[in-house]
Amino acid sequence: MKKMDGKLVAQTLKDHVKKDVQSLKKQGIHPSLCVVLAGDDPASKVYVKRKMMACDEVGIHSKLLKFPKDVPQEELIQTLESLNQDPLVHGILVQLPLPGHLDQKTVLSYLSPKKDVDVLTTKNVGALWSSSANIQPCTPKGIITMLEHYKIPLEGRHVVVLGRSLIVGRPMVQLLLEKNATVTICHSKTTNLKEHTKRAEVVVVACGKHHLLKAQDFKKGAVVIDVGMHRISKEGKTVLEGDVCPEGLENVLSYFSPVPGGVGPMTISSLLHNTVQLARH
Ligand code: GUN
Repeated sequence: MKKMDGKLVAQTLKDHVKKDVQSLKKQGIHPSLCVVLAGDDPASKVYVKRKMMACDEVGIHSKLLKFPKDVPQEELIQTLESLNQDPLVHGILVQLPLPGHLDQKTVLSYLSPKKDVDVLTTKNVGALWSSSANIQPCTPKGIITMLEHYKIPLEGRHVVVLGRSLIVGRPMVQLLLEKNATVTICHSKTTNLKEHTKRAEVVVVACGKHHLLKAQDFKKGAVVIDVGMHRISKEGKTVLEGDVCPEGLENVLSYFSPVPGGVGPMTISSLLHNTVQLARH
């Protein structure tokens, strides 16, 4: 089994983005991203910090707007409206999940589709599904880039996507269809889930359940992409683990994208790429 190295592939992408940023700056365009973070979810804080550090690395200007966990919905909406109007902001990222009292759909409906770096607005989701979007959602795009880097064929192959979230599962299906894969989407209510995963040549696991799938749930030679992110306390330390238990995978899979070091860095590189695309438009 070959372990996919998301960090390495992401670095190559970052190098490209850095060059693009330099050339845009010569034309007087300074790509910029604004991150809106509401609440104090520890995982979100870590992800946001990583995203901002990556922006710094490639020369994208980034700004963080932090709000307390009881921020009124109206205040977030007003913030988005003013960022939509700000010509110096090219991309806006509303870090999810939002605190429980906020309605995600309503808040996102105030985000300008022109600055929607995650492809979450209704207009952009429609464009994505009609294959006419300018940018693609960060995590699915990062996964496709990684599969392409390792020359894993998708055309005609059976791919199972486990998870139907707006940010990963659903757009993943569309990007795989664009690559002519045969896609099955499974979720928490799927009966005999493992019958599906055992038949697949490629499995993208984004169900948010710690170590739900194990070596015996995959077909020999399968390619597995783990998108899970679980902060687990072990012997007084916090470690990051995925939706797939890594034990015994070496003898079953052909390729595995692990957690950490797989999809995470690819998502961040895609975010940088998307910010530059929005600045260009
Ligand atoms: N929460 C976890 N991952 C993401 C992401 O890629 N974008 C946003 N907006 N929120 C997230």
